[in-house]
Amino acid sequence: MIPENAGPAAVIVLAAGAGTRMKSRTPKILHEIGGLSMVGHALRAARSIAPQRLAIVVRHERDLVEEHVSALDPQAVIVDQDDVPGTGRAVEAALQVLDAGGELAGTVVVTYGDVPLLSGELLDELVATHEREGNAVTVLTAVLDDATGYGRILRGDDGSVTGIREHKDASEAERLVREVNSGIYAFDAAVLRGALGKVTTDNAQGEKYLTDVLGLAREAGGRVAAVVTADRWQVEGANDRVQLAALGAELNRRTVEAWMRAGVTVVDPATTWIDSSVTLDEDVRLLPNTQLHGATTVARDAVVGPDTTLTDVQVGEGATVVRTHGSGSVIGPRAAVGPFTYLRPGTVLGEKGKIGAFYETKNVTIGRGSKLSHLGYAGDAEIGEDTNIGCGNITANYDGEKKHRTVIGSGVRTGSNTVFVAPVTVGDGAYSGAGAVIRKDVPAGALALSVAAQRNAEGWVPANRPGTRSAELAQAATKNSSSTPASTEEGK
Ligand code: UD1
Ligand code: CA
Repeated sequence: MIPENAGPAAVIVLAAGAGTRMKSRTPKILHEIGGLSMVGHALRAARSIAPQRLAIVVRHERDLVEEHVSALDPQAVIVDQDDVPGTGRAVEAALQVLDAGGELAGTVVVTYGDVPLLSGELLDELVATHEREGNAVTVLTAVLDDATGYGRILRGDDGSVTGIREHKDASEAERLVREVNSGIYAFDAAVLRGALGKVTTDNAQGEKYLTDVLGLAREAGGRVAAVVTADRWQVEGANDRVQLAALGAELNRRTVEAWMRAGVTVVDPATTWIDSSVTLDEDVRLLPNTQLHGATTVARDAVVGPDTTLTDVQVGEGATVVRTHGSGSVIGPRAAVGPFTYLRPGTVLGEKGKIGAFYETKNVTIGRGSKLSHLGYAGDAEIGEDTNIGCGNITANYDGEKKHRTVIGSGVRTGSNTVFVAPVTVGDGAYSGAGAVIRKDVPAGALALSVAAQRNAEGWVPANRPGTRSAELAQAATKNSSSTPASTEEGK
């Protein structure tokens, strides 16, 4: 039983083409925009109309494409096209799998793997029009200024669609037509099955043209119609890297605009790049040159940027993230990160915590209110609450072969340039002196000192560097200070 609200019987995504103009070892449809491959966008649009089956036709670099598609959409049926060329042959191959017993009924949608801006809404509109009008075929078209290369939509005197003529097969007069075939269609399954059997390779390119189905369907008495979209981007494919960048920029423009309409302040849309997979709350502020990738989420009132790149990072409410490069991390509510901070995977910063300038972190959990303000490295560590890690502290977590953990309690105050030689544990409320090298556990409340007591060799500079500017200044200072009683307190 097919549920009443089910989508079309099938979507067939064509993706067997070679994509040679990309000049790439990576198959064309695996190139990304907005953080997702072109075929990923195509699959997403296809899935959004809830087809009962989804097939993708592959040939060029089929193993790489199959691996990628199976990871994104395990339910997608991978169909191999043989060496007969043409879009008609590709659909025929898909039907051999989807319609092996000739039982496929209802609407079959055909889309391309390299048209990444096509939206589920437009596909929905195509299917709804097709089914409402009871068409045999409904083709998605657009009117372009320059239609060179595209199949042209042929219409009768009454305006009805009579067929599609490929550019290479078109007459001078037909080439003046600016309404083009997007290559995206809704077909009645029975009409498609019947017509494909009659498609030949008798044309300028010696290919089985899917476009021939329109003329054949009409000859068989079916109604053929078009949905014309005013949004040319949605039917545009990327054949080379110039088009890929143009589509990527347009996708980003749309994504950024949608977030602004949803309540996000974007100071400079042109330099703000947001993957389609990112989520942002109302009243987030994004400052110039910010890139948000992957599963990044930003909660209300947080400010990200300028000059920040985050991949798979959760930014908590009211947090600030300035000039930061981060991945796989969690930034707590009202926490502060940056400027010039490198957050590596596994960094978890608690509420109101801070990771400041020139800090690198990895696999570290930092409790609420704890601060690592300047110049350091924290890796494979656990830091409690309200602890202040002094300037220049590092966890020496790697002994050259293995990584070890540093555990630092709550309310700890560490002196500048403390080195924690892991594995080591520092108890709650402990302190360390400046420059301490912590090799042994520090009990709660202890002050850990490891630096040898200071010794001043008085008069060393004038004696060993005579005649230098340092020696001159030292001699002048010694003369002056010997008349000042306060100097006697120095050098203990
Ligand atoms: C096709 C249409 C043309 C339309 C244009 C829109 C035909 C005959 N022509 O042109 O009317 O204006 O798309 O871009 O359909 N593919 C296969 N197997 C093949 C050939 C192509 O899977 O044997 C796939 C490609 O990977 C691509 C899509 O079909 O995703 C279109 O192929 P492409 O060669 O770019 O289109 P054309 O045939 O030139
Ligand atoms: Ca083409």
